[in-house]
Amino acid sequence: MASGGPQLRFRGKTKTPVERVAQLDAFPKLREASVKPSAVGGFMSVASVVLILWLFYSEFAFFWDSKLSFQLSPDELMDEKMPVNLDVTVAMPCRSIGADVVDSTGQGVTSFGQLEYQDTWFELDAGQRDFFSSLKYVNEYLREEAHALQQVLWKAALSRTYDLPEATDRGGRPFDACRIRGSLELTKVAGNLHVAAGQTLPLPGGHVHLATMRHNLNFSHRVTRFSFGPPDHGVVHPLEGDEKVAQQEDMQYQYFITVVPTEVRVRGRHVQTYQYSVREVARVISHDKGSHGTPGVYFKYDSSALRVSISEERDSWIQLLAKLCSVVGGVFATSAVISQKLQALIALFSGKQNNYQKMTNS
Ligand SMILES: *[C@@H]1O[C@H](CO)[C@@H](O)[C@H](O)[C@H]1NC(C)=O
Repeated sequence: MASGGPQLRFRGKTKTPVERVAQLDAFPKLREASVKPSAVGGFMSVASVVLILWLFYSEFAFFWDSKLSFQLSPDELMDEKMPVNLDVTVAMPCRSIGADVVDSTGQGVTSFGQLEYQDTWFELDAGQRDFFSSLKYVNEYLREEAHALQQVLWKAALSRTYDLPEATDRGGRPFDACRIRGSLELTKVAGNLHVAAGQTLPLPGGHVHLATMRHNLNFSHRVTRFSFGPPDHGVVHPLEGDEKVAQQEDMQYQYFITVVPTEVRVRGRHVQTYQYSVREVARVISHDKGSHGTPGVYFKYDSSALRVSISEERDSWIQLLAKLCSVVGGVFATSAVISQKLQALIALFSGKQNNYQKMTNS
C-alpha cells in the first residue's frame, strides 16, 4: 500500500449544481392531496387580489404624480440680464410723460432697450374691460391661493400670454392716456423703472425729464403686464391687474419689488425665469405741505441674492418595484394569517356545534 490507513470515500450520489440550488428552495411545498381548498381561503384569495390591484393602482398613481421640491441656493448668475416685460397705461397723453430706467450701474437709458408709446384712452372699452377684469380677478385669486395651488400651477400646461386688446375708436375723442409697453434688458442690480412727467432726454451719465407742465399731473395707471423673464406657468405676477385711479393730482406711486430668480425644471421643460414680490406706497407730492419728491409711477426693483430651484421629485423604477413587491408579499402573508385564524375559528365553532349535537343526540 502506497499510503497507509483507510481512505474515506463518498459513496453517495454526487449532486449536480442544479440539484444543489434546488435544495436551497425556501418555498414550502405541500403535496396536492394534503391541500384542502376551503371557502374562507378562496374568499381571502379573491379579496387579496382585489386589494393588491387597488394598492398597485395607488402606487402607480403616486409614482406618476411627482412632488415638487423647492430649493434655495445663492444666485451665481449675477451678470445675466434680467428682461422686464411691461404694459402700463397712464392717464396722461404720451407727449407729456416718459419712462426710463435708472440703476446703480449708471448706464444710459437707451442701453436697456426701447419702449413703445401708444396714445389711447384711459377709460376701457367693453372688450378691454372684460379682459382687464378677468386678469384682475384671476390674479387676485392666484395671489391668495398660490401657496395651495403651486403644486398644480407649476405643472399646468396653460400659460397666460394674452395682451390687452387694442382700444376701439372713440369717435374723435382726444387721447387722454398713454400705453407704454415693451421689454427692457435690466442688469441684476438695484434700479428703478419709472414713468414721470416730461419726455426723457438722455444725457451722458443720466437723463432729464423735459416737463412742460409741472402740476395737475394725473398718475392714475393700470398695469396689464409686469413680469420678469420669459413667461412660465407657475409664476404669479402680483402687479398685473393693478389699477389705481388717482383721487388727487401729483401723486407719487412707488412699488418696491424684490425679484427672485427662479429655475423651473418640471414636466420636461427647463425655464429660467423670475418671480417677484411687491409692496407699495402712494402719497401726494406737495412741496407747500413739505411732501417733496417727483410725482410719477416708480417701480423700484432689486434682485434677490437667492435663487429658487423648482424640480420634480419622483421615485426611481427600482423603488417602485420594491414597493410593488412589498405590496404583494405583505398582502399575501397577512391574508394567509387571517385566513388560518378564521378557519381555526370556524373549526372551533362548528366543532362545538358537532359536540353539542352529539350530546343532544345521545
Ligand atoms: C385722473 O384720471 C382718471 C381717469 O381719467 C379720473 O378718473 C380721475 O378722476 C383723475 N384724477 C384727478 C385727480 O383728476
